[in-house]
Amino acid sequence: MRILITGVCGFAGSALAECLLERKPGLRICGMDNLMRPGAETNRARVEKLGVDFVHGDLRSASDVEGLPACDWVIDAAANPSVLAGLSGSGSSRRLFEHNLSALGNVLEYCRQHKAGLLLLSSSRVYSIPALVSIPLRAEHGAFVVDSSAELPTGLTANGIGVNFSTAAPVSLYGATKLASEIMALEYGAAFGFPVWITRCGVLAGAGQFGTPAQGIFAYWVNAHLRRRPLRYIGFNGLGLQARDAFHPRDLAALLLAQTRTGRADGQRIYTAGGGIPNTMSLAQLTAWCDERFGAHPPAVDPAPRMYDIPWVAMDNTDVTRDFDWRIEMPLPVILEGIAQHAMAHPDWLDVSRV
Ligand SMILES: NC(=O)c1ccc[n+]([C@@H]2O[C@H](COP(=O)([O-])OP(=O)(O)OC[C@H]3O[C@@H](n4cnc5c(N)ncnc54)[C@H](O)[C@@H]3O)[C@@H](O)[C@H]2O)c1
Repeated sequence: MRILITGVCGFAGSALAECLLERKPGLRICGMDNLMRPGAETNRARVEKLGVDFVHGDLRSASDVEGLPACDWVIDAAANPSVLAGLSGSGSSRRLFEHNLSALGNVLEYCRQHKAGLLLLSSSRVYSIPALVSIPLRAEHGAFVVDSSAELPTGLTANGIGVNFSTAAPVSLYGATKLASEIMALEYGAAFGFPVWITRCGVLAGAGQFGTPAQGIFAYWVNAHLRRRPLRYIGFNGLGLQARDAFHPRDLAALLLAQTRTGRADGQRIYTAGGGIPNTMSLAQLTAWCDERFGAHPPAVDPAPRMYDIPWVAMDNTDVTRDFDWRIEMPLPVILEGIAQHAMAHPDWLDVSRV
């Protein structure tokens, strides 16, 4: 089997390449990246050493994509993944559109031409922000948790957010590019007869992630705490109760491989997957973990809300467990310890990530 990984020098792309090669000896991987993400160039030598056939190219360019060798599957891990992308100070909206949507058009044409299956990494950010903000929550042990005594909206259960949760606008500009990508991918798959699996991922986290406050929050927080950089609890009364689930690309790799093995042509194509409730942590809890590991470093408080901020997200893994026999194997403390060790070994990591 031969797999093309777009964005192969990003955090997810490079980690997936490594984990897939570990899990599937004999697998051949071709990867493309334009190295636009600060820090991505540090992964180029790493993936080439793994045996990845690396192509420096831009997915926005049809001729760059046309030059790629034929593969059986494409893992689309190239995007600008910041929820603030396209807003002033975070790059232009046109640039976001080109990288996250126009580029996908070229990837879909590649799949059509080569009859390659597509494994699309979508996001929890496809969900409606007003609906997410309205989830009934209460505070427990320094974190928001779902208040199950209240009536829960469609798509939300005690296990987390599932595929049927509202995707009504606004979902953020970034989220809208992912939602539109899902629709285009499904349509191409149906029209041209190639398999498409879409995974709406919760937060991905792990050692070597390029973290910023708007994306890669676990890696950013651990690195910033260790370096005594200023940290802030933004919005939600400045208490740091906002919580996210997180999982490692190693676990995602297992799910993607299971999807390639699933021959069924009909039925559910869109899934949610993430750390789930057991791998969910608030910023206050993350600070407590870091305080224990590196000594106290209290964040400042900035209660003013920030655009697109949401208080709680945890993905429901019920469907992926049922259909792919998939479950999380890496608990959050293990992921955090990996990030901490990497942070200690790379004192310049926040500069590499250009935070
Ligand atoms: N990190 C998360 O928590 C998370 C959660 C859900 C979904 N995702 C999705 O996973 C994917 C990967 O995210 P990540 O965290 O690894 O991001 P990342 O920024 O670390 O990696 C993205 C890579 O894509 C490359 N890239 C971007 N545009 C390109 C283009 N036009 N041509 C070629 N290469 C291009 C970048 O240089 C970078 O190396 C994204 O699609 C993102 O939406 C990520």
